[in-house]
Amino acid sequence: MRAAVCPGYGPPEVVGLEELASPELGAAQARVRVHAAAINFPDVLIVADRYQLTVPTPFVPGSEFAGVVEAVAEGVTAVAPGDRVSGTVLVGAFAEEVAVDAGALRRVPEGIDLRVAAAFGVAHSTAYHALRSVARIQPGEELVVLGAGGGVGLAAVQLGAALGATVTAVASSQEKLDAAAAQGATHRLNPRSTDLRQALRERLPDGADVVVDPVGGALAEPALRSLRWGGRFVTVGYASGEIPKIPLNLVLLKGATILGFEFRSFAEHAPEAFRRNEAELLSLLVEGRIAPYVGASFPLADVAAALRYVADGKAVGKVLIDVADRDRRRHPMLEDESR
Ligand SMILES: NC(=O)c1ccc[n+]([C@@H]2O[C@H](COP(=O)([O-])OP(=O)(O)OC[C@H]3O[C@@H](n4cnc5c(N)ncnc54)[C@H](OP(=O)(O)O)[C@@H]3O)[C@@H](O)[C@H]2O)c1
Repeated sequence: MRAAVCPGYGPPEVVGLEELASPELGAAQARVRVHAAAINFPDVLIVADRYQLTVPTPFVPGSEFAGVVEAVAEGVTAVAPGDRVSGTVLVGAFAEEVAVDAGALRRVPEGIDLRVAAAFGVAHSTAYHALRSVARIQPGEELVVLGAGGGVGLAAVQLGAALGATVTAVASSQEKLDAAAAQGATHRLNPRSTDLRQALRERLPDGADVVVDPVGGALAEPALRSLRWGGRFVTVGYASGEIPKIPLNLVLLKGATILGFEFRSFAEHAPEAFRRNEAELLSLLVEGRIAPYVGASFPLADVAAALRYVADGKAVGKVLIDVADRDRRRHPMLEDESR
């Protein structure tokens, strides 16, 4: 099978395409023929060995995928060959085949394209758990989303609007802000061209109810300052590369609550809420009320370019690796850039 391989830690460009043997089927596992995979920011960090877990090299990067079950280990009944499934792994998804624990696979509902299923993973789940169970957002509340054009941010915009909030999107380019508006944001702010603290004060004179922050860095404090008394700030990630240090007197003065969300620990410590939220999220997709926005798609041969695209903060919504698409040579946007 063809697979993207990280031979040693470094920038995205270390990743190259190789021909590998099909992954062996371990006990309780299923082997899935991958149709599409999606990039998450941590994929970049894992390749650089800057993630919270170190994966020994060489390895096949890639953490979320959708495809068709090819084979199952003896005794596996959760899925069978031919089933359309999606799943998440730490690594291994940027390949034509991946072997995973069969019990962790999710069936893709009929009528949902496998590329949509691949893009509908960690970003949407993160945004939904953060809004629904952590911020406990209510209809009519004012929600501010930082990094609103990125994977988690755009999902938070879409889901915040679906849950009845009025959404202010904060993102660094017109393209990202337009995407956020199309996903339900009522107001758009670009922190590169405006003073964010002042702009939020003008936009929300009574203050925001909730802030969702997947970016951190210099944006976190002005966003926290925009909260009304008793507002909630949910820290989700630090795509800026900087973990913000917040003056606690702001929290004191605002009676504010700072909350954190981390996927694995939430699933472990709040399993009932996790399962309920995942079921609700899937219903929203099946009912056609939400859908992931795929801003760019790359063939398997271009995983390095796709990781670079995400590392540079260019992603709008989700970035897909279209593994089943063997013919497309390069992402059109990259061809434009190389002219
Ligand atoms: N807590 C969890 O369980 C969980 C789950 C999933 C993801 N995360 C984390 O959430 C963060 C966002 O993930 P994502 O998938 O939404 O990423 P993404 O699609 O790449 O979006 C990240 C956004 O961050 C902003 N940004 C600012 N400085 C950046 C920089 N130096 N490099 C890249 N982006 C930069 C960009 O928005 P602007 O251009 O508007 O500034 C970008 O759109 C990551 O840190 C990820 O690890 C956490």
